[in-house]
Amino acid sequence: MPSLLAIESSCDETAVAIICREDGRPRLLTSLISSQIEIHREYGGVVPEVACRNHALRIRPLVQQALDDANLSLEEIDAFAATRGPGLASSLLVGLSYAKGLAAATGKPFYGINHMEGHLLSPFLELGKVAPHLGLIVSGGHTLLIDVRGFDDYKLMGHTIDDAAGEAFDKVGRMLDLPYPGGPEIEKYAREGNPKAFRFPRPQLRDAPLDFSFSGLKTAVLYQLQKLENPHSQLADLCASFQAAVIDSLVKKTILAAMEADRQMITLSGGVACNKALQSALGAAAEEAGIALSLAPPALTTDNAGMIAFAGLLSSENRDADSLTVGIDPNLSLTP
Ligand code: KG4
Ligand code: ZN
Repeated sequence: MPSLLAIESSCDETAVAIICREDGRPRLLTSLISSQIEIHREYGGVVPEVACRNHALRIRPLVQQALDDANLSLEEIDAFAATRGPGLASSLLVGLSYAKGLAAATGKPFYGINHMEGHLLSPFLELGKVAPHLGLIVSGGHTLLIDVRGFDDYKLMGHTIDDAAGEAFDKVGRMLDLPYPGGPEIEKYAREGNPKAFRFPRPQLRDAPLDFSFSGLKTAVLYQLQKLENPHSQLADLCASFQAAVIDSLVKKTILAAMEADRQMITLSGGVACNKALQSALGAAAEEAGIALSLAPPALTTDNAGMIAFAGLLSSENRDADSLTVGIDPNLSLTP
């Protein structure tokens, strides 16, 4: 039962997981996250310098804790993996260097993993293999529509031309004086609000119908706030109307992309995939179009090392290991 230890440190979560394959199915022996959200909340967003210092402090005890949880010694780990991009350069460096150090010290193979591939494949961890599908990845830094033919066979169908969906949630959250990160806060207030109270834009890009744009929406919310005498009395309606505009764009283009790629399955992944209103709107639209929707379990949705471990496991089974000279790439792309 070969095991692989993976590290994720692309943003503000230090995370370590250990995975193995047992009777053909992947098994996460442990998946630990040491979150820095409370530290960065004070600044209203992630401060890279603070994030990388905290990764450096936390990584060693977290790796030890993961080994203890899995009841394994370092020598019993058969391969190592770490996120090499995209993300914050100084944060990526901590996890990647640490994992390469462990691989060098033990003489075991190392795999550099694309963070977005981790998100994209997370709905398949339980199944253990990747089925052809159309993947919508919605995170703090990316909004991607990917046609997946199989592991490591990806085609970009659409992406955001400005802000990512999660970034829009976080920026609008800040405008509304909500704590960081804005996504879960906006979802909470939106539950009590009327999504039709304000009509916010759902941009259509004439030449690129599968691309997204969220910066105009963010500006529309700002203008609306300036017009209101007491915006806080309409917080729930503002959140519901903003969230509905984001969801409408995401759902419409995802269904369109799935039909264009002729896929019978859609997956939803990345931090924004936690949003229950998005899950149910996409679920309903997919059902109407006769397409299945597959979600990752909540623990694998916001940043975590379990998804990096799974992508690492598939990498170890399907490709050569990386050289230890492989470096970080803050702008690493998932598709050619
Ligand atoms: O995937 P993730 O944890 O980190 C990145 O790779 O960026 O995604 C974080 C993003 C943040 O923008 C956060 O506001 C958003 O996911 N998010 C949500 C929800 N939970 C997290 N957005 C909307 N609704 C949520 N419930
Ligand atoms: Zn992420």
